[in-house]
Amino acid sequence: MMTNYGWYKIALPLVALLGLVSLSACQSTMRTMGMGPPMGSPEDVADSQAVWKALARADLVGPGARAGTPYMGTPPHGKVLELLHQKITVNGHTGLAIVKRNYGGPGVSLNSVKANRGRYLKAITVMFKREAGYDPEDKNWFWAKYKPDGSLHVKEKMGMKIQLAGRVAKGKPMGCISCHRGAPGGDFVFAKNLKF
Ligand code: HEC
Repeated sequence: MMTNYGWYKIALPLVALLGLVSLSACQSTMRTMGMGPPMGSPEDVADSQAVWKALARADLVGPGARAGTPYMGTPPHGKVLELLHQKITVNGHTGLAIVKRNYGGPGVSLNSVKANRGRYLKAITVMFKREAGYDPEDKNWFWAKYKPDGSLHVKEKMGMKIQLAGRVAKGKPMGCISCHRGAPGGDFVFAKNLKF
């Protein structure tokens, strides 16, 4: 009987470990097959941080962010908006990043934003063109909605908190991808004349 116990001490953690390994392998296969959750996974969050760092290096976000030209916006993005774009390199892949700063709150106006951007900045919504194969049906955009400090906005759904990064709301009737699909030109971008 004593010897059996000894065996269990080794076998149990081993079985648990094997289970974990096969579970994560299964999850990543599901993801590459497009079956897993399209957004908010630890990988998506890590990607969002890598994108944020590259945006900060390019002075598009963060304390050193360049000023753009604020304009009056339309829902859902905010009352006053600012749009900047530039190619950035993330994990060795270079692609276009489009950054939309969303300003709101009491007293928001073109002039108040120009005078004090930090006070009214509510969200930074970003599209980053990923490598071919990332999301072929939706033109390979990575989507994220950041708070001014670079952490992610979270959506609560049926008691679950979903971080807004990745192929955001892919396959859903509402959200980044389905709404941007309606943009003219077929590349999910509403803004015209982006030079890159
Ligand atoms: C209901 C529709 C809708 C949803 C949902 C939506 N957008 Fe947009 N988005 C727009 C429209 C319309 C514009 C262009 C007008 C403007 O400047 O607001 C735009 C502009 C943008 C731009 C600037 C590039 C462009 O296409 O002109 C970015 C970046 C962006 N959105 C990111 C996002 C992200 C990230 C999400 C999800 C978290 C999101 N959007 C959700 C409608 C939407």
